[in-house]
Amino acid sequence: MITILAIESSCDDTSAAVIQDGWLLSNVTANQDVHKKYGGVVPELASRAHQANIVPVVDAALKDALVNISDIDAIAFTRGPGLLGSLLVGVSFAKGFALANNIPLIDVNHLHGHIAALFLKEKNIQHNDPQFPFLTLLVSGGHTQIIKVTHFFEKELIGETIDDAAGEAFDKTAKILGLPYPGGPLIDKYAEEGDPNKYSFSRPKVGDTDFSFSGLKTAILYFIRDEVKKNPSFVKENLCDICASVQFTIIDILIEKLKNAVSVTGIKEIAVAGGVSANSGLRNRLRAEADKNAWVVHIPDFKFTTDNAAMIGITAYYKYLKKDFSGQDVTAEARFK
Ligand code: KG4
Ligand code: ZN
Repeated sequence: MITILAIESSCDDTSAAVIQDGWLLSNVTANQDVHKKYGGVVPELASRAHQANIVPVVDAALKDALVNISDIDAIAFTRGPGLLGSLLVGVSFAKGFALANNIPLIDVNHLHGHIAALFLKEKNIQHNDPQFPFLTLLVSGGHTQIIKVTHFFEKELIGETIDDAAGEAFDKTAKILGLPYPGGPLIDKYAEEGDPNKYSFSRPKVGDTDFSFSGLKTAILYFIRDEVKKNPSFVKENLCDICASVQFTIIDILIEKLKNAVSVTGIKEIAVAGGVSANSGLRNRLRAEADKNAWVVHIPDFKFTTDNAAMIGITAYYKYLKKDFSGQDVTAEARFK
């Protein structure tokens, strides 16, 4: 039996999970409310909150899993990409834990984790692993990519954003509308009551499988500015329709690029991962496209879409099977080349 304790601290969520033989036993996350009023994550505050949260979160994960420290065979952590100060808290904790308990240390790439979340298994919950090769639409606050996954540890980049990530498009729109950070979940909520065809925004002109969201952000900014000049209550009166229209545009761009990637690769086994895959409009649209185009789609359980340690744990489990451990000299990496 292989039992792994995993830590995720790359951005503003402090999370710990216990994975046993690929099965999830516990996953505990402390969100950081301190960033809400700043309209984005403040790195220094995030790092301090991780320091305050990490020991209670690990303790809760061990208790939830009904395991003791002595049962843990390896400790895994997110090495990057992410905020350096945030990553350092997880890396230092993991190194100390490995030394104190004389167990191996496993470093995990955060983006790899988001994809690996599709392989998480929980007792009494029906689950189908994606079949290789599959395409993943990875959409988070920092990344927007289409990746061809040929094996658990073999990937090929098919396309990516040349500027903002899809999550940033949601968050920056929310900021323009005066909504708190992170805006994605709020736009999702208001969009449910709105008309997605009320307002239209121009589409980016980039490569077939690449993305660009900075032009959309500017278009929304100018549109809102002009409308507010005519009617100062424009945003308040039309919030749901604005959110629905923006969300529809972002999803439509994502789906168009995904369709191009399907044509280029011929792969119809499709997965979605990352924080934006929590979006209900995107989840519904993917299911509809699957029916229309005979795709097999894999959508992660809602709780594994945004940052969590369970996804780090499942990646670490597969690394453990290869005996792919890291030394005490391993460092956090804000960005990978
Ligand atoms: O994967 P994640 O938790 O962190 C990163 O690795 O970036 O993704 C966070 C992003 C944020 O931009 C957040 O607004 C977005 O995911 N997000 C959503 C939803 N829930 C989270 N975007 C749209 N709709 C949602 N329901
Ligand atoms: Zn993430």
